[in-house]
Amino acid sequence: MKYLIIYAHPNPKSFNHAIRERVEALLKRQKKQYSVRDLYVTKWNPVLGGADFEIFQQKKAPEDIAREQQCIKEADVLIFIHPIWWFGMPAVLKGYIDRVFSYGFAYEVGASGVKGLLSDKKVVILNTTGGTEDSYLKNGFKDAVSKVFKNGIYEFCSMKVVLHKFFFAVPSITGEAREKMLAEIDTLAI
Ligand SMILES: Cc1cc2nc3c(=O)[nH]c(=O)nc-3n(C[C@H](O)[C@H](O)[C@H](O)COP(=O)(O)O)c2cc1C
Repeated sequence: MKYLIIYAHPNPKSFNHAIRERVEALLKRQKKQYSVRDLYVTKWNPVLGGADFEIFQQKKAPEDIAREQQCIKEADVLIFIHPIWWFGMPAVLKGYIDRVFSYGFAYEVGASGVKGLLSDKKVVILNTTGGTEDSYLKNGFKDAVSKVFKNGIYEFCSMKVVLHKFFFAVPSITGEAREKMLAEIDTLAI
C-alpha cells in the first residue's frame, strides 16, 4: 500500500503540522511507503483558469496538474490533513481539488450519469477546528462538513472515505489535551 499525504497549513509550528509529523512517524514505524504534497511549500497555484480549460479541451493536463495526478495515480491511500476554515477547506486545497480532480481524471459523465474514476483509492481526512465538538453537533456543522467532503468530493470520484476525524477546539484546549489528541493518531487504523 502506498500513501500520499496531502497537507495544507502554512505554519510549521501549527497543530496540523504536529499531526502530520505524527502520521509520518506512524507510517514510518509501519514501514509503509509514503510521500507528501505540502501545498504551501510547493506553492500550489489554486486558481483553475482559462488556460487550464484550453489544455483540458485538448485532452491533456497542464504540467503542474499532471504531476499531482501522477502522485495520486501511484497512491492507494490519500491522507488529507488540514484545518477547517470557514467551514470548509483552506483555499489552497480547494484549488488543488478544483484543478487536479479534473474531468476525465477524477470523474466523467456517461450515458448512465456521473462516474467516479478513482475507485481504487481510499481516503483518510484529518481536520482541526476552532469550534468545540458541542457546537459542531448542536449546529449541524459536523454533518454538513462531512457531507461536503465525503459525499460531495471524494465519493463523487468513487473514492472510499475510510476515516474522517475531527480534532476539535484545538486553539482553546490545554497542552495536555492536545498531547492526548496526538497520541490518538498512533492508534489509527490507516
Ligand atoms: C481563516 C480562518 C478561518 C477559520 N474558520 C473556522 C471555521 O469555520 N470553523 C472552525 O471551527 N474554526 C475555524 N477557524 C479556526 C481553525 O480551524 C483553528 O484555528 C485550527 O483548526 C487550529 O489548528 P492549527 O493550530 O493547526 O491552525 C478558522 C481559522 C482561520 C485562520
